[in-house]
Amino acid sequence: MQSGLTIALSKGRIFKETLPLLAHAGIEPAEDPENSRKLILPTNRENVRLIVVRASDVPTYVQYGGADLGVAGKDVLMEHGGEGLYEPLDLRIARCKLMVAGRMDEEPLPGRMRIATKFVRSTRQHFARQGRQVEIIKLYGSMELAPLVGLADRIVDVVDTGNTLRANGLEPKERIADISSRLIVNRASLKMKHRAVSDFVHCIEEAVNNHA
Ligand code: ATP
Ligand code: PRP
Repeated sequence: MQSGLTIALSKGRIFKETLPLLAHAGIEPAEDPENSRKLILPTNRENVRLIVVRASDVPTYVQYGGADLGVAGKDVLMEHGGEGLYEPLDLRIARCKLMVAGRMDEEPLPGRMRIATKFVRSTRQHFARQGRQVEIIKLYGSMELAPLVGLADRIVDVVDTGNTLRANGLEPKERIADISSRLIVNRASLKMKHRAVSDFVHCIEEAVNNHA
């Protein structure tokens, strides 16, 4: 795989929305990860393979060279910190917003709010910028439940249609950031495999502009 490219993707929306961009670059996976238990997927291009990892693990694989390139949400990149990564391209897929949300029938809030989230770093930064003291409770999912059972006053989560919030009697209170997925590149790969990486980035950039 010295001159080949390994691309890290997560199953689900990122994989689905990246497929048309890869197709534009002439890359088609040999198998659908939704129907396969394989974690390394060959493609129609002999020197390009895909690896399937958790969304929040994509930056880690790319940072340490387990993959040359990857696709990750900006929310995930903000939590990771971006060390060892280049972020050359906004793919404009998997778009959503990172929001503070709370109950529609919210009681008066305490001076020091409790915020439940998996986005600990972004949450800390957001409230620090405002000079507000908060207690952050780390969760790994289903954040919407926390204010309903008194675990937290508010949550920080990604919101698209707002359906999940509404279905749980919650509403957005503050916007932290607009989110989309980014192409990320390992720094060493950019140097050592410069031609292959930059050709790939240009192809994907063209695909993004065509889809706009
Ligand atoms: P993990 O498996 O690591 O827990 P996840 O379940 O959050 O991650 P996905 O749900 O596939 O992974 O989300 C991948 C990315 O898509 C997120 O990082 C975010 O940038 C974006 N995203 C999440 N939810 C939505 C949504 N409802 N609409 C649009 N984009 C979203
Ligand atoms: C994500 C996110 C929210 C929801 C927001 O969950 O965690 O719960 O989408 O989208 P909405 O505003 O359109 O309702 P997802 O559906 O990806 O499930 P997950 O919890 O498995 O990531």
